[in-house]
Amino acid sequence: MGHMSDAPTTAQPRILSGMQPTSDSLHLGNYLGALVNWVGLQDGFDAYYFVADLHALTVPTDPEVIRRRTRVTAAQYVAAGVDPQRSAVFCQSHVAEHPELMWVLACQTAMGEMNRMTQFKDKTAKGHNANVGLFTYPVLMAADILLYDAAKVPVGEDQRQHLEITRDLAMRVNQRFGADTLVVPEPHIVKASAKIQDLQEPEAKMSGSTSSDKGMILLSDDPKRIAKKIRSAVTDADGEIRYDPETKAGVSNLLVIHSVLSGTSIPQLEARFSGQGYGALKGEVADVVVEAVAPFQERLAALLDDPAELDRILAGGAERAAEVASITMTRVRERVGLLAGAVRG
Ligand code: TYM
Repeated sequence: MGHMSDAPTTAQPRILSGMQPTSDSLHLGNYLGALVNWVGLQDGFDAYYFVADLHALTVPTDPEVIRRRTRVTAAQYVAAGVDPQRSAVFCQSHVAEHPELMWVLACQTAMGEMNRMTQFKDKTAKGHNANVGLFTYPVLMAADILLYDAAKVPVGEDQRQHLEITRDLAMRVNQRFGADTLVVPEPHIVKASAKIQDLQEPEAKMSGSTSSDKGMILLSDDPKRIAKKIRSAVTDADGEIRYDPETKAGVSNLLVIHSVLSGTSIPQLEARFSGQGYGALKGEVADVVVEAVAPFQERLAALLDDPAELDRILAGGAERAAEVASITMTRVRERVGLLAGAVRG
């Protein structure tokens, strides 16, 4: 395995996160719930951001489509402001320790624990014909996190249960095989942006797999489309611009989107829009979103125009990631009783 002499030797705590390459564009929920925080966290942490391409195999997809989406997802991280000089940007499948640690963890996981995972239950309830990979998906996610001794994992609210099982598995491994085998991670869920709702069904989260096209804003949408989707967002009949997610889910969601992107607090927005109609709020939300998305789209187009540069980023990221992953995996192999020797890889 190669050694990167310019890899940072900081003692900063590590963070790690990833997204599935399941669509041709991230939506505003991924962006505000996760990516914006990833960018900010680069300052205080040694960050590892990967594309969860192995997870994407749980849903049968055309191989060329997965490949294309994997590249686009990585490019979107960088376009949003993840700096590949500071943070490792890589593909999960390029670091073979991910599925390797998953196997060890799977052997510590009870069937019942996986049966209780709500995302799996939701998907199968909708008639999704599940495979074993989908069932064990959270174990692979635990391996992703635990390989890097990650102190924190920045995600949206929908990933909380997966982080709980990750913590349980880390503690169990430490109890069985030695207290310092794995680092028990903390979720990093920023309350203000942890749950961006569907524009058409504001009681449900914005989701690439369940939202309609009108219900979600894609980061690839052009300004007209963004404005149109926000203009037709579902609100309510009471006419008052007030944050109350229980009874005014649609209006509250628009306030959250505005607030996170403009940096204006929700009470300030409520005061400013007091006495105005929903049309005024929607107009401004559209402006704020377009203002954030336009430079992102420009950077993304430039990155996608230069596939060699993206390959270099991913190769460098995988090399840095593999350095950390191999240290953890060597420790785990030894602790669980696998014979030391020449591991080929
Ligand atoms: P994924 O690909 O579904 O989503 C990527 C990130 O976006 C967040 N997110 C949202 N945040 C706020 N509002 C929304 N409407 C919204 N929709 C999505 C998600 O919480 C997530 O942070 N299992 C993970 C991928 C993964 C992973 C990991 C994450 C695999 N291994 C290890 C962290 C660490 C997933 O499917 O995310």
